Amino acid sequence: MGLLDGKVAIVTGAGGGIGREHALSLAAEGAKVLVNDLGGARDGSGAGSQRMADHVVEEIRAKGGEAAPNYDSVATIAGGRGVLKSALAAFGKVDILVNNAGILRDKTLSKMEEEQWDLVNAVHLKGTFCVTQPTFNHMRERGEGGVIINTSSTSGLEGNFGQCNYGAAKAGIWGFSRCLALEGKKNNIRVFVLAPVAHTRLTEDLPFFQTEETKARMDPKLVSPLVVFLASDLAKELTGRTFFVGGGTIAEMKMVRGEGVTKKENGGLWTPQEIAQNITKILT
Ligand SMILES: NC(=O)c1ccc[n+]([C@@H]2O[C@H](COP(=O)([O-])OP(=O)(O)OC[C@H]3O[C@@H](n4cnc5c(N)ncnc54)[C@H](O)[C@@H]3O)[C@@H](O)[C@H]2O)c1
Repeated sequence: MGLLDGKVAIVTGAGGGIGREHALSLAAEGAKVLVNDLGGARDGSGAGSQRMADHVVEEIRAKGGEAAPNYDSVATIAGGRGVLKSALAAFGKVDILVNNAGILRDKTLSKMEEEQWDLVNAVHLKGTFCVTQPTFNHMRERGEGGVIINTSSTSGLEGNFGQCNYGAAKAGIWGFSRCLALEGKKNNIRVFVLAPVAHTRLTEDLPFFQTEETKARMDPKLVSPLVVFLASDLAKELTGRTFFVGGGTIAEMKMVRGEGVTKKENGGLWTPQEIAQNITKILT
């Protein structure tokens, strides 16, 4: 008995890295998996190669699981509909969506080209919308609930040098998910956010990942058990949560409003000097 027997999952960008591990882990727990990957290079350039998705489908089938490929780009609504259509054609329904596809075009803001901003936001933020909207509507119409897991990053939630485009997209995915978690409640569609860390082709040239010890400790397969947990009934009481996950650590990440200070006098209107006098209390 697997935790996800009878379930159907879509994983975008599942031809390599973290997405491949998600697909293998979901399949190992009994889910039928639609393996989406456009192929192409780390920065989103190059002709798409069907080989990446096909290879993961073969790996799942070789282990006795069920999988089907899809090669659409998540960056357009036509692509997002294509992903859902492939899942429905292969398996007839979708219970679980993991939005994971991603690229990098790092540049400091002063040197960033419009195209670097647009492409990163198209794949990550718009891509999350493009696949989620048709799938969310399918889940609503089916009326049997669902789980949507979106991939953010500490680069967006905490900030990272040289990644204003990527950080903006990843923080946008967090906001999108927080709102969708509220919209999904009525239909028992649970929504989560991951901020993973793993050694993949996306991160292989970062200084942090240069030692063999770090590469081994940051194996992408360490991210996926959390996805299986969230997708399963073990997490059926949870929604709207954000998790840091990687290297053996799992921790909730939260946007927290401090206690702050409320002024009652003068209709609550602060002067800048009063704000300066209270800044220590405001910042706690
Ligand atoms: N590796 C990390 O430490 C880390 C940290 C934070 C967030 N993330 C996020 O995790 C996700 C997976 O990243 P990864 O590290 O496994 O990188 P990766 O490059 O190994 O995997 C990303 C996959 O997405 C696919 N892809 C790219 N554009 C696509 C498109 N338009 N449509 C469909 N597929 C597309 C790529 O072909 C690739 O297989 C990404 O969203 C990334 O931003 C990773």
